[in-house]
Amino acid sequence: MPLNSLISEAGSLKKSPLKATASNTAVPKRKQLLRASIAHYPNSKPDNKSADERSCESLYQRFYERSYKENIEIFTDGALVIEDSIIRDIGDYATVVQKYPDAAISDYSGKWILPGLIDSHLHYPQTQSIANYGEQLLSWLENYTFPAEMAFADEEHAKNIAKVFINQLLRNGTTTGFVFTTVHASSCQALFSAASDINMAIVAGKVCMDRNCPAQLQDTPELAQRESADLIDQWHNKGRNKYALTPRFAPTSSDAQLAALGELATQYKDVFIQTHLSENRDEIAWVNSLFPHADGYLDVYDKHHLVRERSVFGHGIHLNQDEWVRLGEANATLAFCPTSNLFLGSGLFNMEQAKANNVHVALATDVGAGTTFNMFKTYGDAYKVSQLRDVPISPFEGFYLMTQGAAAAHQLDDEIGNLNPNTTADFIIVEPRFDELTALRISENAAFEDVFFALSILGDDRMIEQTWISGQCCYNKKENQHALA
Ligand code: GUN
Ligand code: ZN
Repeated sequence: MPLNSLISEAGSLKKSPLKATASNTAVPKRKQLLRASIAHYPNSKPDNKSADERSCESLYQRFYERSYKENIEIFTDGALVIEDSIIRDIGDYATVVQKYPDAAISDYSGKWILPGLIDSHLHYPQTQSIANYGEQLLSWLENYTFPAEMAFADEEHAKNIAKVFINQLLRNGTTTGFVFTTVHASSCQALFSAASDINMAIVAGKVCMDRNCPAQLQDTPELAQRESADLIDQWHNKGRNKYALTPRFAPTSSDAQLAALGELATQYKDVFIQTHLSENRDEIAWVNSLFPHADGYLDVYDKHHLVRERSVFGHGIHLNQDEWVRLGEANATLAFCPTSNLFLGSGLFNMEQAKANNVHVALATDVGAGTTFNMFKTYGDAYKVSQLRDVPISPFEGFYLMTQGAAAAHQLDDEIGNLNPNTTADFIIVEPRFDELTALRISENAAFEDVFFALSILGDDRMIEQTWISGQCCYNKKENQHALA
Protein backbone atom coordinates (compact mmCIF):
# COMPACT_ATOMS: atom_id res chain seq x y z
CA MET A 1 0.00 0.00 0.00
CA PRO A 2 1.42 3.42 -0.88
CA LEU A 3 2.54 5.40 2.12
CA ASN A 4 0.19 8.28 1.40
CA SER A 5 -2.90 6.17 1.65
CA LEU A 6 -1.88 5.26 5.16
CA ILE A 7 -1.36 8.86 6.17
CA SER A 8 -4.44 10.42 7.61
CA GLU A 9 -5.39 13.85 8.81
CA ALA A 10 -4.82 14.82 12.39
CA GLY A 11 -7.73 13.51 14.40
CA SER A 12 -8.20 10.42 12.25
CA LEU A 13 -7.84 8.29 15.36
CA LYS A 14 -11.05 9.71 16.69
CA LYS A 15 -12.91 6.68 15.45
CA SER A 16 -10.81 4.47 17.70
CA PRO A 17 -12.80 3.44 20.76
CA LEU A 18 -12.33 5.86 23.61
CA LYS A 19 -12.74 3.24 26.25
CA ALA A 20 -10.64 0.13 26.72
CA THR A 21 -13.33 -2.52 26.27
CA ALA A 22 -13.19 -6.27 26.22
CA SER A 23 -13.94 -6.16 22.50
CA ASN A 24 -10.74 -4.24 21.62
CA THR A 25 -8.65 -7.05 22.93
CA ALA A 26 -9.91 -9.08 19.96
CA VAL A 27 -8.70 -6.45 17.45
CA PRO A 28 -5.55 -7.71 15.72
CA LYS A 29 -2.39 -5.93 16.84
CA ARG A 30 -1.40 -3.04 14.63
CA LYS A 31 1.31 -0.57 15.24
CA GLN A 32 0.30 3.08 15.18
CA LEU A 33 2.76 5.79 14.23
CA LEU A 34 1.97 9.33 15.37
CA ARG A 35 3.78 12.15 13.64
CA ALA A 36 4.30 15.45 15.52
CA SER A 37 6.92 17.46 17.33
CA ILE A 38 7.97 15.49 20.39
CA ALA A 39 9.77 16.40 23.63
CA HIS A 40 10.65 14.32 26.68
CA TYR A 41 13.41 13.57 29.16
CA PRO A 42 14.62 10.03 28.46
CA ASN A 43 16.74 9.92 31.63
CA SER A 44 16.58 11.29 35.12
CA LYS A 45 18.71 14.29 35.96
CA PRO A 46 22.45 13.61 35.95
CA ASP A 47 23.92 14.71 39.24
CA ASN A 48 27.64 14.74 38.53
CA LYS A 49 28.40 18.25 39.69
CA SER A 50 32.04 19.25 39.78
CA ALA A 51 33.66 20.29 43.06
CA ASP A 52 33.52 23.93 41.91
CA GLU A 53 29.86 23.63 41.09
CA ARG A 54 29.15 22.09 44.50
CA SER A 55 30.91 24.83 46.40
CA CYS A 56 29.59 27.89 44.58
CA GLU A 57 25.90 28.66 44.59
CA SER A 58 25.73 30.53 41.29
CA LEU A 59 27.73 27.82 39.49
CA TYR A 60 25.47 25.30 41.13
CA GLN A 61 22.42 27.04 39.75
CA ARG A 62 24.01 27.18 36.32
CA PHE A 63 24.81 23.47 36.51
CA TYR A 64 21.11 22.72 36.87
CA GLU A 65 20.09 25.09 34.12
CA ARG A 66 22.59 23.54 31.74
CA SER A 67 21.69 20.03 32.73
CA TYR A 68 17.96 20.49 32.09
CA LYS A 69 18.67 22.09 28.74
CA GLU A 70 21.13 19.46 27.60
CA ASN A 71 19.24 16.37 28.65
CA ILE A 72 15.89 16.98 27.01
CA GLU A 73 15.28 15.05 23.78
CA ILE A 74 13.40 16.95 21.10
CA PHE A 75 12.29 15.74 17.66
CA THR A 76 10.96 18.68 15.71
CA ASP A 77 9.51 16.37 13.06
CA GLY A 78 9.15 13.29 15.20
CA ALA A 79 7.41 9.94 15.30
CA LEU A 80 6.09 7.91 18.20
CA VAL A 81 5.24 4.27 17.54
CA ILE A 82 2.87 2.46 19.85
CA GLU A 83 1.57 -1.08 19.87
CA ASP A 84 -1.29 -2.00 22.17
CA SER A 85 -0.48 -0.31 25.47
CA ILE A 86 3.27 0.04 24.92
CA ILE A 87 5.59 2.57 23.27
CA ARG A 88 7.71 0.74 20.72
CA ASP A 89 9.83 3.47 19.18
CA ILE A 90 10.54 7.20 19.10
CA GLY A 91 12.71 9.29 16.84
CA ASP A 92 12.88 11.46 13.73
CA TYR A 93 9.92 10.83 11.47
CA ALA A 94 12.03 10.30 8.35
CA THR A 95 13.98 7.49 10.03
CA VAL A 96 11.25 5.85 12.08
CA VAL A 97 8.70 5.72 9.27
CA GLN A 98 11.03 3.48 7.23
CA LYS A 99 11.13 0.91 10.00
CA TYR A 100 7.37 0.42 10.27
CA PRO A 101 5.96 0.12 6.75
CA ASP A 102 2.74 -1.48 8.04
CA ALA A 103 1.99 1.01 10.80
CA ALA A 104 -1.15 3.14 10.65
CA ILE A 105 0.05 6.73 10.47
CA SER A 106 -1.68 9.71 12.03
CA ASP A 107 -0.30 13.10 11.24
CA TYR A 108 -0.34 15.68 14.04
CA SER A 109 2.25 17.99 12.50
CA GLY A 110 2.18 21.41 14.17
CA LYS A 111 1.28 19.87 17.53
CA TRP A 112 3.45 18.47 20.31
CA ILE A 113 3.45 14.98 21.75
CA LEU A 114 4.60 14.97 25.39
CA PRO A 115 4.59 12.31 28.10
CA GLY A 116 1.40 12.16 30.14
CA LEU A 117 1.68 14.61 33.03
CA ILE A 118 2.12 13.55 36.65
CA ASP A 119 0.36 15.43 39.46
CA SER A 120 2.13 14.34 42.63
CA HIS A 121 -0.38 15.54 45.24
CA LEU A 122 -4.12 16.27 45.08
CA HIS A 123 -7.43 15.49 46.76
CA TYR A 124 -10.31 14.08 44.70
CA PRO A 125 -12.95 14.73 47.39
CA GLN A 126 -12.14 18.44 47.13
CA THR A 127 -13.11 18.65 43.45
CA GLN A 128 -16.38 20.31 44.40
CA SER A 129 -14.92 22.55 47.12
CA ILE A 130 -12.19 24.13 44.98
CA ALA A 131 -12.05 27.96 45.02
CA ASN A 132 -13.56 28.78 48.41
CA TYR A 133 -12.85 32.28 49.71
CA GLY A 134 -11.02 33.73 52.61
CA GLU A 135 -9.21 31.26 54.84
CA GLN A 136 -5.74 29.97 55.59
CA LEU A 137 -5.05 26.29 56.13
CA LEU A 138 -6.61 25.36 59.47
CA SER A 139 -9.87 27.30 59.18
CA TRP A 140 -10.08 26.36 55.48
CA LEU A 141 -10.00 22.68 56.51
CA GLU A 142 -12.64 23.22 59.16
CA ASN A 143 -15.01 25.41 57.17
CA TYR A 144 -14.84 23.91 53.69
CA THR A 145 -12.82 20.72 53.45
CA PHE A 146 -14.11 18.54 56.25
CA PRO A 147 -17.77 19.23 55.36
CA ALA A 148 -17.06 18.36 51.71
CA GLU A 149 -15.34 15.11 52.73
CA MET A 150 -18.24 14.05 55.00
CA ALA A 151 -20.43 13.68 51.92
CA PHE A 152 -18.24 10.74 50.83
CA ALA A 153 -19.95 8.47 53.36
CA ASP A 154 -22.37 8.08 50.44
CA GLU A 155 -20.83 5.67 47.92
CA GLU A 156 -22.86 7.00 45.01
CA HIS A 157 -21.54 10.49 45.67
CA ALA A 158 -17.98 9.12 45.75
CA LYS A 159 -18.49 7.33 42.42
CA ASN A 160 -19.90 10.46 40.78
CA ILE A 161 -17.10 12.72 41.99
CA ALA A 162 -14.45 10.12 41.05
CA LYS A 163 -15.69 10.32 37.46
CA VAL A 164 -15.72 14.11 37.36
CA PHE A 165 -12.27 14.14 38.91
CA ILE A 166 -10.75 11.73 36.38
CA ASN A 167 -12.36 13.61 33.54
CA GLN A 168 -10.76 16.81 34.82
CA LEU A 169 -7.36 15.08 34.91
CA LEU A 170 -7.81 13.80 31.36
CA ARG A 171 -8.90 17.11 29.87
CA ASN A 172 -5.84 18.76 31.44
CA GLY A 173 -3.38 16.12 30.24
CA THR A 174 -2.69 14.46 33.59
CA THR A 175 -2.32 10.70 33.29
CA THR A 176 -1.11 9.87 36.81
CA GLY A 177 -2.15 11.44 40.10
CA PHE A 178 -1.09 10.90 43.69
CA VAL A 179 -4.49 11.17 45.26
CA PHE A 180 -5.88 11.59 48.77
CA THR A 181 -9.37 10.09 49.09
CA THR A 182 -11.36 10.37 52.37
CA VAL A 183 -11.46 8.38 55.58
CA HIS A 184 -14.10 6.12 53.99
CA ALA A 185 -12.48 3.04 52.43
CA SER A 186 -15.31 3.02 49.88
CA SER A 187 -14.18 6.42 48.53
CA CYS A 188 -10.79 4.87 47.80
CA GLN A 189 -12.47 1.89 46.13
CA ALA A 190 -14.48 4.26 43.95
CA LEU A 191 -11.38 6.03 42.69
CA PHE A 192 -9.33 2.90 41.98
CA SER A 193 -12.30 1.37 40.27
CA ALA A 194 -12.87 4.39 37.97
CA ALA A 195 -9.15 4.60 37.13
CA SER A 196 -9.06 0.88 36.38
CA ASP A 197 -11.84 1.31 33.81
CA ILE A 198 -9.34 3.18 31.61
CA ASN A 199 -6.11 1.46 32.75
CA MET A 200 -4.92 4.68 34.34
CA ALA A 201 -1.95 4.53 36.73
CA ILE A 202 -3.30 6.04 39.94
CA VAL A 203 -1.55 6.19 43.30
CA ALA A 204 -4.09 6.65 46.08
CA GLY A 205 -4.95 5.88 49.66
CA LYS A 206 -7.64 6.08 52.27
CA VAL A 207 -7.09 9.12 54.49
CA CYS A 208 -6.41 8.18 58.13
CA MET A 209 -7.50 10.53 60.95
CA ASP A 210 -8.29 9.62 64.54
CA ARG A 211 -8.50 13.04 66.20
CA ASN A 212 -8.94 16.80 65.72
CA CYS A 213 -11.58 16.53 63.04
CA PRO A 214 -15.35 15.86 63.00
CA ALA A 215 -16.34 12.53 64.57
CA GLN A 216 -17.85 11.32 61.27
CA LEU A 217 -14.40 11.58 59.67
CA GLN A 218 -12.49 9.69 62.36
CA ASP A 219 -11.22 6.16 62.28
CA THR A 220 -8.97 4.56 64.94
CA PRO A 221 -5.40 3.24 64.85
CA GLU A 222 -6.68 -0.33 64.46
CA LEU A 223 -9.29 0.50 61.81
CA ALA A 224 -6.84 2.65 59.85
CA GLN A 225 -4.34 -0.20 59.83
CA ARG A 226 -6.87 -2.89 58.95
CA GLU A 227 -8.59 -0.93 56.18
CA SER A 228 -5.30 0.28 54.71
CA ALA A 229 -3.95 -3.30 54.69
CA ASP A 230 -7.15 -4.57 53.03
CA LEU A 231 -6.92 -1.87 50.37
CA ILE A 232 -3.26 -2.75 49.75
CA ASP A 233 -4.24 -6.40 49.25
CA GLN A 234 -7.05 -5.47 46.95
CA TRP A 235 -5.45 -2.73 44.83
CA HIS A 236 -1.69 -2.35 45.21
CA ASN A 237 0.08 -3.47 42.04
CA LYS A 238 -3.24 -4.77 40.70
CA GLY A 239 -3.42 -3.54 37.13
CA ARG A 240 -1.73 -0.14 37.18
CA ASN A 241 -2.94 0.84 40.65
CA LYS A 242 -0.56 1.63 43.48
CA TYR A 243 -1.38 2.23 47.12
CA ALA A 244 -0.24 5.11 49.31
CA LEU A 245 -0.55 5.00 53.09
CA THR A 246 -2.25 8.35 53.76
CA PRO A 247 -2.20 9.83 57.25
CA ARG A 248 -3.73 13.25 56.47
CA PHE A 249 -1.18 15.22 58.56
CA ALA A 250 0.28 14.99 62.04
CA PRO A 251 -2.45 17.02 63.84
CA THR A 252 -5.21 14.57 62.85
CA SER A 253 -3.32 11.36 63.78
CA SER A 254 -2.36 10.15 67.25
CA ASP A 255 1.05 8.62 67.85
CA ALA A 256 -0.73 5.26 68.01
CA GLN A 257 -2.20 5.74 64.55
CA LEU A 258 1.10 6.86 63.01
CA ALA A 259 2.76 3.83 64.63
CA ALA A 260 0.13 1.51 63.14
CA LEU A 261 0.72 2.97 59.67
CA GLY A 262 4.48 2.85 60.20
CA GLU A 263 4.17 -0.90 60.73
CA LEU A 264 2.51 -1.20 57.33
CA ALA A 265 5.17 1.05 55.76
CA THR A 266 7.84 -1.31 57.06
CA GLN A 267 5.96 -4.42 55.98
CA TYR A 268 5.10 -3.15 52.46
CA LYS A 269 8.31 -1.53 51.30
CA ASP A 270 7.13 -0.58 47.82
CA VAL A 271 3.91 1.04 48.98
CA PHE A 272 3.90 4.85 48.86
CA ILE A 273 3.36 7.14 51.84
CA GLN A 274 1.69 10.52 51.35
CA THR A 275 0.91 13.24 53.85
CA HIS A 276 1.40 16.98 54.51
CA LEU A 277 4.39 18.67 56.10
CA SER A 278 5.18 22.20 57.31
CA GLU A 279 2.70 24.03 55.15
CA ASN A 280 1.58 26.81 57.48
CA ARG A 281 3.07 28.43 60.60
CA ASP A 282 -0.02 27.88 62.83
CA GLU A 283 -0.03 24.25 61.77
CA ILE A 284 3.62 23.86 62.76
CA ALA A 285 3.03 25.46 66.18
CA TRP A 286 0.10 23.08 66.69
CA VAL A 287 2.22 20.06 65.78
CA ASN A 288 4.89 21.17 68.25
CA SER A 289 2.29 21.37 71.01
CA LEU A 290 0.68 18.03 70.11
CA PHE A 291 4.00 16.16 69.88
CA PRO A 292 6.25 17.75 72.54
CA HIS A 293 8.63 14.78 72.49
CA ALA A 294 9.36 15.00 68.78
CA ASP A 295 12.25 17.00 67.44
CA GLY A 296 10.13 19.05 65.03
CA TYR A 297 7.43 18.26 62.46
CA LEU A 298 9.31 15.84 60.21
CA ASP A 299 10.49 13.89 63.23
CA VAL A 300 6.88 13.11 64.16
CA TYR A 301 6.71 11.03 60.98
CA ASP A 302 10.30 9.83 61.18
CA LYS A 303 9.84 8.30 64.63
CA HIS A 304 7.18 6.07 63.07
CA HIS A 305 9.19 4.97 60.01
CA LEU A 306 7.22 7.14 57.64
CA VAL A 307 10.18 9.02 56.16
CA ARG A 308 11.75 6.95 53.43
CA GLU A 309 11.96 6.58 49.65
CA ARG A 310 8.47 6.66 48.15
CA SER A 311 7.35 9.07 50.93
CA VAL A 312 5.73 12.10 49.31
CA PHE A 313 5.29 15.13 51.56
CA GLY A 314 2.99 17.92 50.42
CA HIS A 315 4.45 21.45 50.73
CA GLY A 316 7.48 21.64 53.07
CA ILE A 317 7.36 25.43 53.01
CA HIS A 318 8.81 26.14 56.46
CA LEU A 319 11.44 23.44 56.99
CA ASN A 320 14.50 23.84 59.18
CA GLN A 321 17.99 22.85 58.05
CA ASP A 322 17.94 19.48 59.83
CA GLU A 323 14.69 18.62 58.08
CA TRP A 324 16.09 19.49 54.66
CA VAL A 325 19.09 17.27 55.31
CA ARG A 326 16.94 14.40 56.57
CA LEU A 327 14.60 14.54 53.56
CA GLY A 328 17.61 14.34 51.24
CA GLU A 329 19.18 11.45 53.14
CA ALA A 330 15.91 9.54 53.21
CA ASN A 331 15.40 9.88 49.44
CA ALA A 332 11.93 11.27 50.13
CA THR A 333 10.03 13.65 47.84
CA LEU A 334 8.47 17.06 48.39
CA ALA A 335 5.39 17.92 46.36
CA PHE A 336 5.64 21.60 45.42
CA CYS A 337 2.08 22.93 45.11
CA PRO A 338 2.42 26.59 44.08
CA THR A 339 -1.22 27.43 43.33
CA SER A 340 -2.23 26.06 46.72
CA ASN A 341 0.59 27.80 48.57
CA LEU A 342 -0.45 31.11 47.04
CA PHE A 343 -4.18 30.53 47.48
CA LEU A 344 -3.92 29.64 51.19
CA GLY A 345 -1.17 32.21 51.79
CA SER A 346 1.13 29.44 53.04
CA GLY A 347 4.42 30.78 51.71
CA LEU A 348 7.02 30.47 48.94
CA PHE A 349 8.64 27.07 48.35
CA ASN A 350 12.44 27.11 48.58
CA MET A 351 13.68 25.29 45.50
CA GLU A 352 17.31 26.25 46.13
CA GLN A 353 17.30 24.43 49.47
CA ALA A 354 15.82 21.36 47.81
CA LYS A 355 18.67 21.36 45.29
CA ALA A 356 21.34 22.06 47.87
CA ASN A 357 20.15 19.08 49.92
CA ASN A 358 19.43 16.74 47.02
CA VAL A 359 15.76 16.51 47.90
CA HIS A 360 13.48 15.20 45.15
CA VAL A 361 10.84 17.71 44.11
CA ALA A 362 7.73 17.02 42.05
CA LEU A 363 5.11 19.54 40.98
CA ALA A 364 1.53 19.12 42.13
CA THR A 365 -1.79 20.94 42.05
CA ASP A 366 -3.12 20.14 45.55
CA VAL A 367 -6.70 20.60 44.33
CA GLY A 368 -8.91 21.80 46.12
CA ALA A 369 -6.54 24.22 47.91
CA GLY A 370 -4.85 24.31 44.52
CA THR A 371 -6.74 26.41 42.03
CA THR A 372 -6.37 24.38 38.84
CA PHE A 373 -6.09 20.79 37.60
CA ASN A 374 -3.75 22.01 34.88
CA MET A 375 -0.08 21.14 35.39
CA PHE A 376 1.14 23.70 32.81
CA LYS A 377 -0.59 26.44 34.81
CA THR A 378 0.83 24.93 37.97
CA TYR A 379 4.33 25.41 36.57
CA GLY A 380 3.25 28.96 35.59
CA ASP A 381 2.62 29.69 39.27
CA ALA A 382 5.81 27.87 40.34
CA TYR A 383 7.64 30.24 38.03
CA LYS A 384 5.98 33.25 39.69
CA VAL A 385 6.87 31.92 43.15
CA SER A 386 10.45 31.43 42.01
CA GLN A 387 10.55 34.97 40.58
CA LEU A 388 9.57 36.28 44.02
CA ARG A 389 12.56 34.37 45.38
CA ASP A 390 14.74 35.75 42.59
CA VAL A 391 15.74 32.33 41.22
CA PRO A 392 13.42 31.63 38.27
CA ILE A 393 12.58 28.01 37.49
CA SER A 394 13.22 27.46 33.79
CA PRO A 395 10.60 25.95 31.48
CA PHE A 396 12.88 22.94 30.97
CA GLU A 397 12.95 22.32 34.70
CA GLY A 398 9.21 22.91 35.02
CA PHE A 399 8.53 20.32 32.32
CA TYR A 400 10.94 17.87 34.01
CA LEU A 401 9.19 18.27 37.39
CA MET A 402 5.83 17.13 35.98
CA THR A 403 7.19 14.28 33.83
CA GLN A 404 10.45 12.37 34.19
CA GLY A 405 11.58 14.17 37.36
CA ALA A 406 8.39 13.20 39.17
CA ALA A 407 8.50 9.65 37.80
CA ALA A 408 12.13 9.21 38.87
CA ALA A 409 11.45 10.63 42.35
CA HIS A 410 8.64 8.09 42.73
CA GLN A 411 10.71 5.25 41.17
CA LEU A 412 8.13 4.84 38.42
CA ASP A 413 10.23 5.95 35.46
CA ASP A 414 10.34 2.50 33.90
CA GLU A 415 6.60 2.90 33.30
CA ILE A 416 5.68 6.61 33.10
CA GLY A 417 7.17 10.10 32.82
CA ASN A 418 8.99 9.65 29.48
CA LEU A 419 8.41 8.27 26.00
CA ASN A 420 11.09 5.59 26.06
CA PRO A 421 10.47 2.31 24.22
CA ASN A 422 8.85 -0.33 26.46
CA THR A 423 7.21 2.19 28.79
CA THR A 424 3.43 2.45 28.88
CA ALA A 425 1.87 4.58 26.16
CA ASP A 426 0.62 7.45 28.35
CA PHE A 427 1.02 10.66 26.39
CA ILE A 428 -0.71 13.86 25.37
CA ILE A 429 -1.10 15.79 22.15
CA VAL A 430 -0.86 19.52 22.69
CA GLU A 431 -2.18 22.20 20.33
CA PRO A 432 -0.02 25.26 21.06
CA ARG A 433 -2.02 27.75 19.01
CA PHE A 434 -5.47 27.01 20.33
CA ASP A 435 -6.96 30.51 20.31
CA GLU A 436 -6.43 33.95 18.86
CA LEU A 437 -3.93 35.07 21.49
CA THR A 438 -1.82 31.90 21.55
CA ALA A 439 -1.79 31.86 17.73
CA LEU A 440 -0.46 35.42 17.85
CA ARG A 441 2.09 34.80 20.59
CA ILE A 442 3.42 31.34 19.62
CA SER A 443 4.96 31.14 16.18
CA GLU A 444 4.47 28.00 14.11
CA ASN A 445 8.08 26.93 14.47
CA ALA A 446 8.65 28.14 18.05
CA ALA A 447 11.18 26.21 20.15
CA PHE A 448 9.81 23.78 22.71
CA GLU A 449 10.77 25.87 25.73
CA ASP A 450 9.00 28.91 24.33
CA VAL A 451 5.86 26.92 23.53
CA PHE A 452 5.88 25.30 26.96
CA PHE A 453 6.45 28.56 28.79
CA ALA A 454 3.87 30.59 26.89
CA LEU A 455 1.27 27.86 27.39
CA SER A 456 2.10 27.69 31.10
CA ILE A 457 1.17 31.36 31.40
CA LEU A 458 -1.60 31.61 28.79
CA GLY A 459 -2.92 28.09 28.54
CA ASP A 460 -5.77 26.07 30.00
CA ASP A 461 -7.51 22.83 29.10
CA ARG A 462 -8.14 24.05 25.55
CA MET A 463 -4.51 23.33 24.66
CA ILE A 464 -4.92 19.61 25.35
CA GLU A 465 -6.06 18.04 22.10
CA GLN A 466 -5.91 14.40 23.16
CA THR A 467 -4.91 12.38 26.21
CA TRP A 468 -3.82 8.78 25.69
CA ILE A 469 -3.59 6.22 28.47
CA SER A 470 -2.23 2.69 28.02
CA GLY A 471 -2.30 3.19 24.25
CA GLN A 472 -5.95 4.29 24.12
CA CYS A 473 -7.20 7.78 23.35
CA CYS A 474 -9.17 8.54 26.54
CA TYR A 475 -9.92 12.19 25.88
CA ASN A 476 -10.43 13.92 22.55
CA LYS A 477 -11.11 17.65 22.72
CA LYS A 478 -12.48 17.90 19.19
CA GLU A 479 -15.28 15.51 20.03
CA ASN A 480 -15.50 16.60 23.68
CA GLN A 481 -15.28 12.92 24.49
CA HIS A 482 -14.06 11.50 27.76
CA ALA A 483 -13.59 7.80 28.37
CA LEU A 484 -15.56 8.05 31.60
CA ALA A 485 -18.42 10.16 30.25
N1 GUN B 1 -3.19 19.68 55.45
C1 GUN B 1 -4.01 18.73 55.93
N2 GUN B 1 -5.00 18.45 55.09
C2 GUN B 1 -4.84 19.24 54.03
C3 GUN B 1 -5.57 19.41 52.83
O1 GUN B 1 -6.57 18.77 52.55
N3 GUN B 1 -5.07 20.34 51.96
C4 GUN B 1 -3.95 21.06 52.24
N4 GUN B 1 -3.51 21.94 51.34
N5 GUN B 1 -3.26 20.91 53.36
C5 GUN B 1 -3.70 20.02 54.25
ZN1 ZN C 1 -2.94 18.43 50.13
